[in-house]
Amino acid sequence: MAAEIQKISTDSVQATRRLATALVRSCPGRLILALHGDLGTGKTCFVQGLADGLGIRRPVTSPTFTLIREYAADRPLIHADLYRMNTTRQSLDIGLEEYFEGDHQVVAIEWAERANLLLPDDTIHVYLCAGDDHTRRNLEFHHCPVRIDSL
Ligand SMILES: Nc1ncnc2c1ncn2[C@@H]1O[C@H](COP(=O)(O)OP(=O)(O)O)[C@@H](O)[C@H]1O
Ligand SMILES: [Mg+2]
Repeated sequence: MAAEIQKISTDSVQATRRLATALVRSCPGRLILALHGDLGTGKTCFVQGLADGLGIRRPVTSPTFTLIREYAADRPLIHADLYRMNTTRQSLDIGLEEYFEGDHQVVAIEWAERANLLLPDDTIHVYLCAGDDHTRRNLEFHHCPVRIDSL
């Protein structure tokens, strides 16, 4: 297990995307990613990088009305955005838990703190925030099994 908390910063949209692509490729099997951070910090951008890494061509956008969207692939991507969720109860109602079953899917959840109680123990938490210029983002990975700086 790599260090409990790993920090990295990116200086472009592409860099954030590439980081996610490298991460998903180096973590085989079921991968649950909880993405935390204000609007505009790059959570959806990160998910787009995951899709790149999984060979998904369909454009990934924020699931506005559908709170969960599935992208078919050998290793499918499930993208949830809980921005409109107020309670864990609502996340249960939309069936989020069902997506944690299975052994090779990638589940990425924006505003994941709104479903904290449902998240499996092996969830990787990613905290994103804006950096000191408008193209920089600081990312903190908690409980990530791979070394982020060697990706
Ligand atoms: N280093 C960076 N990484 C990711 N996005 C960045 C970066 N720098 C600037 N941006 C901009 O920040 C915004 C991130 O949007 P988005 O991924 O939709 O955020 P969120 O899903 O967190 O609301 C985009 O407008 C993107 O162009
Ligand atoms: Mg988003």
